[in-house]
Amino acid sequence: MHIGVLTGGGDAPGLNAVIRGITVRGYSGGHSVTGFLRGWKGVIENQSIELDPDSMDDIHMQGGTILFSSRTNPFKVENGIERIRENYGKAGLDCLVAMGGEDTLGVALRLSQEGISVIGIPKTIDNDLSATDFTFGFDTAVNYVMKALEMLHTTARSHERIIVVEIMGRHAGWMAVHGGIAGGAHVILVPEKEFDTDEVCEILKARYERGDRYAIVAVAEGAMDQQLQRHVLHSAEKDAFGHVQLGTGIGIGEVLKNEIADRTELETRHVVLGHVQRGGSPTAFDRVLGTRLGIKAVEMAEQGQFGMMAALRGTELVAVDLIEAVGTLKTIPEDLYETARLFFG
Ligand code: F6P
Repeated sequence: MHIGVLTGGGDAPGLNAVIRGITVRGYSGGHSVTGFLRGWKGVIENQSIELDPDSMDDIHMQGGTILFSSRTNPFKVENGIERIRENYGKAGLDCLVAMGGEDTLGVALRLSQEGISVIGIPKTIDNDLSATDFTFGFDTAVNYVMKALEMLHTTARSHERIIVVEIMGRHAGWMAVHGGIAGGAHVILVPEKEFDTDEVCEILKARYERGDRYAIVAVAEGAMDQQLQRHVLHSAEKDAFGHVQLGTGIGIGEVLKNEIADRTELETRHVVLGHVQRGGSPTAFDRVLGTRLGIKAVEMAEQGQFGMMAALRGTELVAVDLIEAVGTLKTIPEDLYETARLFFG
């Protein structure tokens, strides 16, 4: 078989482990592998490189993606789908493995409905893809968030300050909740639950009155108190999938910091963790999950399981319909938030 591979959307630590898994398992099964550059853009513009096991040495230890990434949406590019079909044929592909989140896999699903043989691999640090228990990249990112929050404790305590930390996650609070619990945040705010700034201030004031004169507030970039909405200023630019850029302009972290400072008269600072959350080398968990997903993708190709995605269920990897993966976002369950809430204040 001739297998094509691409990585689309925001990068996630573990992508190179998947590429290595596909290439090494592909060659050992007698297949050849082509990597398309910059996500769907590479297939539209026929930019690719040949991948072989010799070029895969140790790349599973590196973050990012050796294939580069973009948020190109072929349905928004003139003749995008025709060009994909043409280049797919020209390259003599038998299938295309697309690694991505809701947007990249949404495109994969539509292409598969148009008769192109596609296999999906779930990827996002946000962990908000349905049909899989965890996405690779999440563990690495959460460990970074945990360390950042932990480090902020000492400086917040020394200066008797509140520090509001803005964490990635536009639709789901997985990173804020897992990172916040592990990193000892005193309040955690997520997109799934609209919050009330007065309540947050009450929790913080009670903490100070008790004698704990500092606090860390973990807020997901998509969390909101409707009363504060008018102060949040995102970049006017939208990406090809219609998302506004969060974490630029004036985000919820900064707005909330100003409100807390005004309403409590306590000294308050804010930090936007930003893209460092996506950087660096993957954890052992993400290296192993990525490797296994790459191997699974080749097995799925051999079995003709197209229009499907490799998913982690418990400790097993299974093939699920792409439609299941991109139909709805996986948001945090109520009981997880209740676990976090128990430690507020
Ligand atoms: O999709 C992952 C993600 O890191 C989100 O958490 C974040 O909102 C977005 O990507 C940032 O995108 P960009 O890299 O385009 O600024």
